[in-house]
Amino acid sequence: MKILGILGSPRSRGNTAILLEGVMEGARRAGAETRVISVASLDTNFCAGCSHCFRYGQCHYRDDVEKVKEKMLDADGIVLGSPVYIGTVSAQMKTIMDRCAYFIHCFLLAGKYGAAVATAGAGQAEEVAEFQNRFLRMCGAYTVGAVWAKGIGTGKLQDEPEAVARAINLGAELVAAIRERREYPEQAAEHAPLRESMKQLVLESREEYPAQYAHWSEQGWLE
Ligand SMILES: Cc1cc2nc3c(=O)[nH]c(=O)nc-3n(C[C@H](O)[C@H](O)[C@H](O)COP(=O)(O)O)c2cc1C
Repeated sequence: MKILGILGSPRSRGNTAILLEGVMEGARRAGAETRVISVASLDTNFCAGCSHCFRYGQCHYRDDVEKVKEKMLDADGIVLGSPVYIGTVSAQMKTIMDRCAYFIHCFLLAGKYGAAVATAGAGQAEEVAEFQNRFLRMCGAYTVGAVWAKGIGTGKLQDEPEAVARAINLGAELVAAIRERREYPEQAAEHAPLRESMKQLVLESREEYPAQYAHWSEQGWLE
């Protein structure tokens, strides 16, 4: 079982990295293979809003974000981690999310499981963790939980054993959910209206965006 961690902090040993590593540790103890990718170390481009992905099924950039997306598709579980930057995710994390618009249109993470971590100086860590989980659900995944920490100084998370312990538990929980193929009826209910509105979009834009239409047809979602 593969668990992929995506670190959205530019600080590779910062608070978010410590919390994300806690989730990875919990997942490894439960028997999973883990890998963390730090977005800040990659060659990335912002989404150009060109709709190339909807039309052709892949982005026109051939940069490292495409490799991250391949790893996401290859993983059984995905854990997103971001510091709170001006009330939301970091630019690094948002870049990955924006570049995954095709994942959302085609629910490419359906059947996978996710979780999120966030850290903040003062507040909004819970909201930002939930925002990341909502993104994963928009891509079709089920999310098993989130861990956040706030009110911590730079690089001080190692002094918060309780937060790291919660992260370790979350990693174990993620692996258990994947093993059991756990169902989340309330999340399935959240997926349903999004699927319905996306279906209309896919049908209406059949000529303009043949790749997403083809994907929906292959999945049998248009019947
Ligand atoms: C550019 C920037 C913006 C930030 N914005 C917020 C914010 O809006 N709210 C908050 O509580 N903390 C904010 N912080 C503090 C970070 O969220 C906090 O220190 C976090 O734990 C840093 O994570 P890291 O160690 O993984 O980089 C900000 C920090 C930076 C550098």
